[in-house]
Amino acid sequence: MAIYFVDGQFTEKENLKISVEDRGYYFGDGVYEVIKVYEGELFTAEEHLNRLVESAMKIKLTIPFTQQQLLEIAKKLVQDNQIGTGHVYMQVTRGAAPRLHQFPDPTVAPVVVAYAVNNPRPEKAIDNGVAVKSVADVRWLRCDIKSLNLLGNVLAKQEAFEAGCTEAILHRDGVVTEGSSSNLFGVKDGKVYTHPATNLILNGITRQVVLKLCREQRIQVEEKPFTLDEAFAMDEFFLTSTTSEITPITSIDGRPIGTGKPGTLTVNLQKAFAIQIPACVAGE
Ligand code: PDD
Repeated sequence: MAIYFVDGQFTEKENLKISVEDRGYYFGDGVYEVIKVYEGELFTAEEHLNRLVESAMKIKLTIPFTQQQLLEIAKKLVQDNQIGTGHVYMQVTRGAAPRLHQFPDPTVAPVVVAYAVNNPRPEKAIDNGVAVKSVADVRWLRCDIKSLNLLGNVLAKQEAFEAGCTEAILHRDGVVTEGSSSNLFGVKDGKVYTHPATNLILNGITRQVVLKLCREQRIQVEEKPFTLDEAFAMDEFFLTSTTSEITPITSIDGRPIGTGKPGTLTVNLQKAFAIQIPACVAGE
Protein backbone atom coordinates (compact mmCIF):
# COMPACT_ATOMS: atom_id res chain seq x y z
CA MET A 1 0.00 0.00 0.00
CA ALA A 2 1.35 3.46 -0.92
CA ILE A 3 2.53 5.60 1.98
CA TYR A 4 1.88 9.33 1.67
CA PHE A 5 3.02 12.21 3.83
CA VAL A 6 0.08 14.46 4.69
CA ASP A 7 -0.18 17.14 7.32
CA GLY A 8 2.80 16.02 9.35
CA GLN A 9 2.09 12.29 9.22
CA PHE A 10 2.92 9.26 7.12
CA THR A 11 -0.37 7.62 6.14
CA GLU A 12 -1.55 4.88 3.83
CA LYS A 13 -3.06 6.43 0.71
CA GLU A 14 -6.48 4.88 1.43
CA ASN A 15 -6.66 6.52 4.86
CA LEU A 16 -5.52 10.03 4.13
CA LYS A 17 -7.80 13.01 4.45
CA ILE A 18 -7.54 16.37 2.69
CA SER A 19 -10.02 19.14 3.38
CA VAL A 20 -12.30 20.15 0.54
CA GLU A 21 -11.52 23.70 1.69
CA ASP A 22 -7.83 23.32 0.95
CA ARG A 23 -6.77 26.44 -0.97
CA GLY A 24 -4.80 24.26 -3.35
CA TYR A 25 -8.10 22.77 -4.43
CA TYR A 26 -10.02 26.04 -4.70
CA PHE A 27 -7.32 28.40 -5.97
CA GLY A 28 -4.23 26.39 -6.90
CA ASP A 29 -2.80 28.43 -4.01
CA GLY A 30 0.43 26.55 -3.43
CA VAL A 31 3.77 25.42 -4.82
CA TYR A 32 5.28 22.04 -5.68
CA GLU A 33 8.34 20.08 -6.73
CA VAL A 34 9.10 16.83 -8.55
CA ILE A 35 12.39 15.20 -7.55
CA LYS A 36 13.81 12.29 -9.58
CA VAL A 37 14.88 9.08 -7.86
CA TYR A 38 17.49 6.82 -9.47
CA GLU A 39 18.13 3.44 -7.88
CA GLY A 40 16.62 4.62 -4.60
CA GLU A 41 18.72 7.82 -4.53
CA LEU A 42 17.26 11.32 -4.79
CA PHE A 43 18.83 13.31 -7.65
CA THR A 44 19.61 17.05 -7.15
CA ALA A 45 17.31 17.08 -4.10
CA GLU A 46 18.97 20.12 -2.54
CA GLU A 47 18.42 22.20 -5.69
CA HIS A 48 14.74 21.16 -5.86
CA LEU A 49 14.14 21.92 -2.18
CA ASN A 50 15.89 25.30 -2.54
CA ARG A 51 13.52 26.10 -5.40
CA LEU A 52 10.50 24.92 -3.36
CA VAL A 53 11.45 27.35 -0.59
CA GLU A 54 12.04 30.14 -3.15
CA SER A 55 8.67 29.50 -4.85
CA ALA A 56 6.96 29.55 -1.44
CA MET A 57 8.65 32.85 -0.54
CA LYS A 58 7.54 34.38 -3.83
CA ILE A 59 3.89 33.67 -2.94
CA LYS A 60 4.40 34.71 0.73
CA LEU A 61 3.91 31.17 2.02
CA THR A 62 5.93 29.78 4.92
CA ILE A 63 6.69 26.07 4.74
CA PRO A 64 6.20 24.55 8.21
CA PHE A 65 9.31 22.34 7.85
CA THR A 66 13.00 23.04 7.41
CA GLN A 67 14.72 21.99 4.20
CA GLN A 68 16.49 19.24 6.15
CA GLN A 69 13.12 17.95 7.41
CA LEU A 70 11.71 17.99 3.86
CA LEU A 71 14.73 16.01 2.69
CA GLU A 72 14.17 13.44 5.47
CA ILE A 73 10.48 13.16 4.50
CA ALA A 74 11.43 12.57 0.84
CA LYS A 75 14.03 9.95 1.82
CA LYS A 76 11.57 8.11 4.07
CA LEU A 77 8.94 8.07 1.29
CA VAL A 78 11.51 6.57 -1.11
CA GLN A 79 12.43 3.93 1.43
CA ASP A 80 8.94 3.03 2.71
CA ASN A 81 7.50 2.85 -0.81
CA GLN A 82 10.49 0.87 -2.11
CA ILE A 83 11.23 3.26 -4.94
CA GLY A 84 13.90 2.18 -7.42
CA THR A 85 13.60 4.58 -10.33
CA GLY A 86 10.76 7.06 -9.97
CA HIS A 87 10.09 10.39 -8.36
CA VAL A 88 8.99 12.19 -5.23
CA TYR A 89 6.18 14.75 -5.54
CA MET A 90 5.88 17.40 -2.84
CA GLN A 91 3.40 20.25 -2.58
CA VAL A 92 2.63 22.94 -0.05
CA THR A 93 -0.69 24.79 -0.03
CA ARG A 94 -1.86 27.76 2.02
CA GLY A 95 -4.03 25.44 4.10
CA ALA A 96 -7.75 24.89 4.50
CA ALA A 97 -10.12 27.79 5.13
CA PRO A 98 -13.52 29.05 3.94
CA ARG A 99 -13.28 30.21 0.33
CA LEU A 100 -12.15 33.83 0.31
CA HIS A 101 -9.52 35.04 -2.14
CA GLN A 102 -7.42 36.95 0.39
CA PHE A 103 -5.00 34.99 2.58
CA PRO A 104 -6.65 33.23 5.54
CA ASP A 105 -5.96 34.04 9.18
CA PRO A 106 -2.27 33.42 10.01
CA THR A 107 -3.32 30.62 12.38
CA VAL A 108 -4.36 28.53 9.35
CA ALA A 109 -1.48 26.10 8.82
CA PRO A 110 -0.05 25.40 5.36
CA VAL A 111 -0.59 21.79 4.26
CA VAL A 112 2.31 19.68 2.99
CA VAL A 113 1.50 16.62 0.87
CA ALA A 114 4.20 14.33 -0.50
CA TYR A 115 4.38 10.93 -2.12
CA ALA A 116 6.84 8.75 -4.03
CA VAL A 117 6.16 6.55 -7.05
CA ASN A 118 8.06 4.12 -9.21
CA ASN A 119 8.24 5.47 -12.72
CA PRO A 120 10.63 4.16 -15.38
CA ARG A 121 12.75 6.52 -17.47
CA PRO A 122 11.00 7.29 -20.80
CA GLU A 123 13.79 5.52 -22.68
CA LYS A 124 12.10 5.37 -26.06
CA ALA A 125 11.59 9.15 -26.14
CA ILE A 126 15.09 9.80 -24.78
CA ASP A 127 16.66 7.55 -27.42
CA ASN A 128 14.53 8.34 -30.47
CA GLY A 129 13.34 11.89 -29.80
CA VAL A 130 9.83 13.33 -29.85
CA ALA A 131 7.60 15.53 -31.99
CA VAL A 132 6.35 18.83 -30.54
CA LYS A 133 3.66 21.33 -31.45
CA SER A 134 3.89 25.10 -31.16
CA VAL A 135 1.23 26.57 -28.86
CA ALA A 136 0.67 30.19 -27.81
CA ASP A 137 1.97 30.81 -24.28
CA VAL A 138 -1.05 32.39 -22.57
CA ARG A 139 0.16 31.85 -19.00
CA TRP A 140 0.62 34.53 -16.35
CA LEU A 141 3.84 36.54 -15.96
CA ARG A 142 5.30 34.65 -12.99
CA CYS A 143 6.27 31.39 -14.67
CA ASP A 144 9.43 31.42 -12.52
CA ILE A 145 7.25 30.24 -9.61
CA LYS A 146 6.59 26.49 -9.55
CA SER A 147 2.96 27.10 -8.69
CA LEU A 148 0.09 24.62 -8.54
CA ASN A 149 -1.78 26.86 -10.98
CA LEU A 150 -1.06 24.83 -14.10
CA LEU A 151 -4.13 25.39 -16.25
CA GLY A 152 -2.18 27.16 -19.02
CA ASN A 153 0.33 24.30 -19.03
CA VAL A 154 -2.40 21.64 -18.96
CA LEU A 155 -4.26 23.17 -21.93
CA ALA A 156 -1.04 23.53 -23.92
CA LYS A 157 0.00 19.92 -23.25
CA GLN A 158 -3.46 18.67 -24.21
CA GLU A 159 -3.36 20.63 -27.48
CA ALA A 160 0.00 19.03 -28.28
CA PHE A 161 -1.30 15.55 -27.36
CA GLU A 162 -4.37 15.95 -29.54
CA ALA A 163 -2.03 16.74 -32.45
CA GLY A 164 -0.13 13.50 -31.76
CA CYS A 165 2.81 15.34 -30.16
CA THR A 166 4.59 14.73 -26.86
CA GLU A 167 5.10 18.32 -25.79
CA ALA A 168 4.02 21.87 -26.56
CA ILE A 169 6.65 24.43 -27.52
CA LEU A 170 5.27 27.61 -26.00
CA HIS A 171 5.79 31.00 -27.61
CA ARG A 172 4.80 34.55 -26.68
CA ASP A 173 4.13 36.44 -29.92
CA GLY A 174 6.51 34.14 -31.77
CA VAL A 175 9.25 34.15 -29.10
CA VAL A 176 9.90 30.65 -27.73
CA THR A 177 9.74 30.44 -23.94
CA GLU A 178 9.64 26.83 -22.68
CA GLY A 179 7.66 23.58 -22.90
CA SER A 180 4.42 22.99 -21.00
CA SER A 181 6.42 20.95 -18.47
CA SER A 182 10.00 21.28 -19.71
CA ASN A 183 12.69 23.74 -20.80
CA LEU A 184 13.76 24.07 -24.43
CA PHE A 185 17.17 24.29 -26.10
CA GLY A 186 18.18 24.80 -29.72
CA VAL A 187 21.56 24.12 -31.31
CA LYS A 188 22.82 26.14 -34.29
CA ASP A 189 26.36 25.94 -35.71
CA GLY A 190 27.61 24.21 -32.56
CA LYS A 191 26.16 26.85 -30.21
CA VAL A 192 23.38 26.16 -27.70
CA TYR A 193 20.50 28.63 -27.30
CA THR A 194 17.91 28.74 -24.52
CA HIS A 195 15.54 31.34 -23.05
CA PRO A 196 17.15 33.23 -20.14
CA ALA A 197 15.86 32.45 -16.63
CA THR A 198 13.45 35.36 -16.41
CA ASN A 199 9.86 35.55 -15.07
CA LEU A 200 8.70 33.97 -18.35
CA ILE A 201 10.09 30.48 -17.67
CA LEU A 202 10.72 28.08 -14.83
CA ASN A 203 14.46 27.86 -14.26
CA GLY A 204 14.53 24.05 -14.49
CA ILE A 205 16.94 22.10 -12.35
CA THR A 206 17.71 19.87 -15.36
CA ARG A 207 18.21 23.07 -17.39
CA GLN A 208 20.81 24.17 -14.84
CA VAL A 209 22.54 20.76 -14.95
CA VAL A 210 22.68 21.00 -18.77
CA LEU A 211 24.14 24.53 -18.64
CA LYS A 212 26.82 23.24 -16.23
CA LEU A 213 27.61 20.33 -18.56
CA CYS A 214 27.90 22.77 -21.49
CA ARG A 215 30.36 24.90 -19.50
CA GLU A 216 32.41 21.82 -18.58
CA GLN A 217 32.48 20.68 -22.20
CA ARG A 218 33.31 24.20 -23.44
CA ILE A 219 30.15 24.30 -25.52
CA GLN A 220 29.12 27.90 -26.19
CA VAL A 221 25.74 28.84 -24.74
CA GLU A 222 23.60 31.90 -25.34
CA GLU A 223 20.82 32.39 -22.80
CA LYS A 224 18.86 34.58 -25.15
CA PRO A 225 15.29 34.39 -26.50
CA PHE A 226 14.83 33.05 -30.03
CA THR A 227 11.80 33.00 -32.31
CA LEU A 228 9.75 30.10 -33.56
CA ASP A 229 11.12 30.74 -37.06
CA GLU A 230 14.64 30.49 -35.68
CA ALA A 231 13.63 27.28 -33.89
CA PHE A 232 12.57 25.67 -37.20
CA ALA A 233 16.01 26.48 -38.62
CA MET A 234 17.99 24.99 -35.69
CA ASP A 235 20.34 22.07 -36.41
CA GLU A 236 19.19 20.31 -33.24
CA PHE A 237 16.54 20.87 -30.62
CA PHE A 238 15.90 19.26 -27.24
CA LEU A 239 13.86 19.58 -24.08
CA THR A 240 14.86 19.01 -20.48
CA SER A 241 12.97 18.13 -17.32
CA THR A 242 13.28 16.04 -14.19
CA THR A 243 11.26 13.18 -15.68
CA SER A 244 12.29 13.57 -19.35
CA GLU A 245 16.00 14.26 -18.66
CA ILE A 246 17.41 15.39 -22.05
CA THR A 247 14.92 14.40 -24.76
CA PRO A 248 15.73 15.20 -28.39
CA ILE A 249 13.07 17.04 -30.40
CA THR A 250 13.03 15.71 -33.95
CA SER A 251 10.18 17.79 -35.38
CA ILE A 252 8.19 20.94 -34.64
CA ASP A 253 4.70 21.22 -36.18
CA GLY A 254 5.56 18.28 -38.44
CA ARG A 255 8.69 20.01 -39.80
CA PRO A 256 11.86 17.97 -39.20
CA ILE A 257 14.62 19.66 -37.21
CA GLY A 258 18.07 19.14 -38.75
CA THR A 259 18.26 15.55 -39.98
CA GLY A 260 15.01 14.69 -38.19
CA LYS A 261 17.04 12.45 -35.85
CA PRO A 262 18.60 13.17 -32.44
CA GLY A 263 21.57 15.49 -33.07
CA THR A 264 25.24 14.79 -32.24
CA LEU A 265 25.60 17.55 -29.65
CA THR A 266 22.34 16.47 -27.98
CA VAL A 267 23.51 12.85 -27.79
CA ASN A 268 26.86 13.98 -26.34
CA LEU A 269 25.04 15.97 -23.67
CA GLN A 270 22.86 12.94 -22.91
CA LYS A 271 26.04 10.89 -22.40
CA ALA A 272 27.50 13.53 -20.08
CA PHE A 273 24.19 13.64 -18.18
CA ALA A 274 24.14 9.84 -17.85
CA ILE A 275 27.49 9.98 -16.02
CA GLN A 276 25.79 12.06 -13.31
CA ILE A 277 23.22 9.36 -12.55
CA PRO A 278 23.80 5.75 -11.36
CA ALA A 279 25.53 3.78 -14.12
CA CYS A 280 23.14 0.83 -14.01
CA VAL A 281 20.25 3.18 -14.79
CA ALA A 282 22.09 4.96 -17.57
CA GLY A 283 22.66 1.58 -19.21
CA GLU A 284 26.45 1.75 -19.10
N1 PDD B 1 7.86 20.05 -14.65
N2 PDD B 1 9.19 24.28 -17.10
C1 PDD B 1 8.00 23.88 -16.61
C2 PDD B 1 6.79 24.71 -16.89
C3 PDD B 1 7.92 22.71 -15.84
O1 PDD B 1 6.72 22.32 -15.33
C4 PDD B 1 9.09 21.94 -15.62
C5 PDD B 1 9.07 20.68 -14.81
C6 PDD B 1 10.29 22.38 -16.18
C7 PDD B 1 11.58 21.64 -15.98
O2 PDD B 1 12.05 21.78 -14.65
P1 PDD B 1 12.94 20.66 -13.94
O3 PDD B 1 14.10 20.41 -14.83
O4 PDD B 1 13.33 21.28 -12.66
O5 PDD B 1 12.06 19.45 -13.79
C8 PDD B 1 10.31 23.57 -16.89
C9 PDD B 1 7.71 18.95 -13.72
C10 PDD B 1 8.59 17.79 -14.03
C11 PDD B 1 6.24 18.60 -13.59
O6 PDD B 1 5.47 19.52 -13.46
O7 PDD B 1 5.89 17.42 -13.57
